[in-house]
Amino acid sequence: MKYSIKGGSPEKISADCIIVVIWNKGSLSEEAKLIDSIGNKCISKITQSGDLSGRLGETQLIHNPTGIKAKRILLAGGGDKNRFTAKNAVRLLKNSLKAAGKLQAASLHFALASAVISDRENAWLASRLAQETEDSSYRYNATKSKKSNPPATKAVSLAPATGTRRKTQEAALKAGRTIGKAINYAKQLGNLPGNICTPTYLANEASVLAERHRTITTKVLSEKQMARLGMNSLLSVAVGSNEEAKLIVMQHKGANTNSKPHVLVGKGITFDTGGISLKPGAAMDEMKFDMCGAASVIATMQCIAELKLRVNVVGILAAAENMPGSKATKPGDIVTSMSGKTIEVLNTDAEGRLVLCDALTYAERFKPQSLIDIATLTGAAVATFGKHVNALLSNNDKLAKVLLDCGEHSLDRAWQLPLWEEYQSLLNSNFADIANIGGPRAGTITAACFLSRFTKKQNWAHLDIAGSAWNSGTQKGATGRPVGLLVDYLRRQKQ
Ligand code: BES
Ligand code: MN
Ligand code: ZN
Repeated sequence: MKYSIKGGSPEKISADCIIVVIWNKGSLSEEAKLIDSIGNKCISKITQSGDLSGRLGETQLIHNPTGIKAKRILLAGGGDKNRFTAKNAVRLLKNSLKAAGKLQAASLHFALASAVISDRENAWLASRLAQETEDSSYRYNATKSKKSNPPATKAVSLAPATGTRRKTQEAALKAGRTIGKAINYAKQLGNLPGNICTPTYLANEASVLAERHRTITTKVLSEKQMARLGMNSLLSVAVGSNEEAKLIVMQHKGANTNSKPHVLVGKGITFDTGGISLKPGAAMDEMKFDMCGAASVIATMQCIAELKLRVNVVGILAAAENMPGSKATKPGDIVTSMSGKTIEVLNTDAEGRLVLCDALTYAERFKPQSLIDIATLTGAAVATFGKHVNALLSNNDKLAKVLLDCGEHSLDRAWQLPLWEEYQSLLNSNFADIANIGGPRAGTITAACFLSRFTKKQNWAHLDIAGSAWNSGTQKGATGRPVGLLVDYLRRQKQ
């Protein structure tokens, strides 16, 4: 896809489709007014007929308009002009791209200069347009013999916003494209089936990333190497599987060596059967998405390398497959984690925390400025929040506030749950230092409590993305979240 900032009056733009805004009650935007007056009232005829009200999300197509160069006009409802928030703008972009995607239009021009977004800087729209365009052009084809048609759109342009330099807007387009591509990469890894996207596959992806980017180095630890480090908790998840577990460590060096890194740790269970505590059959296929935390980390690493962020970042993927089998860990088994703490595995389906605790202990060696883990950790997060929220828990309120703000800014939103001392005793074990489950209540919180035992010395946050990482039902597929949030966070860290 080619992106550009294209100046000039809307009627003079040659594009296969030009997009203009109609506000509530059929009120025409400046661009729509201009086209309407030149083009034989082709827009006001529609709004006055009552067929288009300008409600947020509405779209209507006009073919062969007269007096203007573009071949089609797509009218896009923007809602209340005075409350054109970033959230509303994204809705408008998504719906316009969806409508335009049904056309054989190779070039789209977004004539949105008069649409001022109330809660963002001027260049934000350029970035988001490119991000949403990439997002909407994603197709899953890898395992289909009949490939879907590639999107007809090849070029997207945006009218320059006033009050911002063209260079800034062009850079914003480029950054948005990079973010959109990273989101698609996370979707792709998530969507690949468990028999293709194994721990070894993820390790290979991370190695390829290092080959492609000068700033990235990748190191992959084998089971043998992990055993030497005492990562028995992580390894206990993998013993039931023929797939070898991997601890994948990616380093992006964008700043001085003495600048402490931000460390991201992703849960990479490439398939979660539940192990001996086997899951029921219904929707078990969706447990191929149990590596979406890892996918978001690898995609974020790709993104920051391409953005050339001047910050040090370490991405760690705890990759394993959770299977039952004669060698599998059994309920009641006790393992000694890398930290030295013993863990009673009361439920082998609570495996995410078992791989994460060792990865979090491993992360200590980098002396992180901040440590964030991303995991499809609990069904309880889905029950609590549904699909819209990344559940956030942290031992540091300042870090939590920043992450919440990044979620709002990127519209990849998070909501905080309490990590209070009162919940910790639910993890008491009669036979080990800690149990791996905390009973039926407050499942997202007790899972985070478990992780908190391994991050006491760290500035740490946990994102439970069990609800946000993929869609179920007819639209089944990975969403690429929370790449948007993570990239937003890391972009704020550059010096
Ligand atoms: N990967 C699952 C969490 C999950 C379940 C995400 C359903 C999305 C949808 C995780 O490994 C798991 O099985 N968690 C258990 C924990 C329980 C045994 C304490 C859960 O949430 O049921
Ligand atoms: Mn599980
Ligand atoms: Zn799991």
